Amino acid sequence: MCGIVGYIGKREAYPILIKGLKRLEYRGYDSAGCALINGEGTLSVYKTKGKVSDLEAFCSDKDCSGCVGIAHTRWATHGEPSSVNAHPHYSSSRKLALIHNGIIENYADLRKKLERKGFSFQSDTDTEVLVQLIEYVRLSHTPALPLLSAVQLALRQVVGAYAIAVLDKDTPGEIVAARKSSPLVVGIGDGELFLGSDASPIIEYTDKVVYLNDGEIALLRPDEKLKVVNLSNVEVTPEVCTLDMELGDLEKGNFPHFMLKEIFDQPACLRACMAGRLSVDRKNIILSAVVDHKERLLAARRFIIVACGTSWHAALIGKHLIESFCRISVDVEYASEFRYSDPVISSDDVMIAISQSGETADTLAAVELGKQKGAFIYGICNVVSSSIARATHTGSYIHVGSEIGVASTKAFTGQVMVLTMLALALAHEKKTISEEEFGKLCTELGRIPAKIEEILQHNDQIGLLARIFTYARNFIYLGRGYNYPVALEGALKLKEISYIHAEGYPAAEMKHGPIALIDSEMPVVVIATKNELYEKVLSNIQEVKARGGRIIALVTEGDTTISKLVDYCIPLPETMECLTPLIASVPLQLLAYHIAICKGKNVDQPRNLAKSVTVE
Ligand code: G6P
Repeated sequence: MCGIVGYIGKREAYPILIKGLKRLEYRGYDSAGCALINGEGTLSVYKTKGKVSDLEAFCSDKDCSGCVGIAHTRWATHGEPSSVNAHPHYSSSRKLALIHNGIIENYADLRKKLERKGFSFQSDTDTEVLVQLIEYVRLSHTPALPLLSAVQLALRQVVGAYAIAVLDKDTPGEIVAARKSSPLVVGIGDGELFLGSDASPIIEYTDKVVYLNDGEIALLRPDEKLKVVNLSNVEVTPEVCTLDMELGDLEKGNFPHFMLKEIFDQPACLRACMAGRLSVDRKNIILSAVVDHKERLLAARRFIIVACGTSWHAALIGKHLIESFCRISVDVEYASEFRYSDPVISSDDVMIAISQSGETADTLAAVELGKQKGAFIYGICNVVSSSIARATHTGSYIHVGSEIGVASTKAFTGQVMVLTMLALALAHEKKTISEEEFGKLCTELGRIPAKIEEILQHNDQIGLLARIFTYARNFIYLGRGYNYPVALEGALKLKEISYIHAEGYPAAEMKHGPIALIDSEMPVVVIATKNELYEKVLSNIQEVKARGGRIIALVTEGDTTISKLVDYCIPLPETMECLTPLIASVPLQLLAYHIAICKGKNVDQPRNLAKSVTVE
């Protein structure tokens, strides 16, 4: 939710800022803007409604020179998307310019207070309140406070979440940045410093970064050591980390969209996810978190999995896996509901937090709550060193590389893969799985990437199928057992990027309501692979057919029974039942992608969405 970039050094800032914003556009694309201080010390703010490309067009005839700058891409919270509400925001004197990711919860009170002091506001945003507050604090001291101190004192009055960067016309050789609950990374180059909401705008200039912690404020001066203080003005020694990120993941390569690239990346991603963990030869799975915390994990009275969106769907599959293989009870909770539900958590619970970005505000809050109540927290994240990854006691990264498309694809299969390995590794330790079955599953897990490669060969056929259904205004997705969450995820993918209303149901629940919706206009996607519930799903298919529904079925290769009954079939390679989600989700991702493309939608940046939801 909102992306922040900053640069200070010897190079021209503007091209670095624009490139950085493009990398961060997945975080929001309602408006974009930048602030630059040029060689004469002039502070200029340029901003516009729309995307980063609109900002570039807007800036094409402006003076964008200067070696100091900050820039922002916005996902609107307070105030509609417009150029007035776009960031950066000036203070009243126009000496300060500020960008912000987060929400200032007490902005209305602060605004009233500032209005009483004579401040007037141009925008409806909480962010403008913050920059005016900093100015007010600064000028209410004689002599006026240095920017760092003013930011520090102002932030003590602020309730809410923020990652901010501030420029001051009077001290053009510095940027002040601060964070609480929204991510912020400082890149350390040779005589230059970078800022980013994540490391993607920084990676091509330096691999040395500092992840700011909550309540920390950084003073970026290009020729000095990075200074970091906390809100109480205690100096903190910044921990410099080396980035582990592939530049290639940040580019589309030969693919027209990141989403398609990321769907096709899945075999390689899952191989990377299993590397060093799954040994097919020795029939073993080693997750370092399980090795290090075996006793604590096996002693769990129950597991609670918290997540949002696609990660929540992965959690449902995780529940099924852990309960089946480990015989440990698992609750799955929407993090957003969980945090306000006064949940019963005890110190013998293990909480698993699943988050691609590792920054989802609700999931992070659920983790903090779990920690307060004494639970042991296991993170399953993609972004290394993200807030959730750092807040947990242990965890397993999914290692699928940067995911840029807003609709999650490879992160979902990566999460399911980690959950599968976790369930199997725990079951093996607990001896709730036989050696024979464990061995079979290890072998079959190793084959999953190749099976996904087979599915990807059907891409063109799925593209043709999508054309037939582009007209549809509603879709139903049905699945049972392990495939029920796959149905939910398939429906979510379609909704997110094509704006077609779609619902996922457990197939047998259809009779209790959704069947009323079925007529010849209603496409129904059924995951009908050969498994224990096959015959039951077959009956559900008959029920849909009897009411004229048009069925697209995902079937096990060679299944002739279902292919005779349904309108269209997508064959899936045979696999073990509990591993079906890893392959069945792939054609559903492709179907959603192609339908959205046929409808002319922007699949990588669907309307109203953002990839990293750092606000409640
Ligand atoms: C947003 C994204 C989804 C994602 C969800 C949870 O809604 O658009 O794709 O599944 O957040 O994100 P997380 O990073 O916590 O997995």
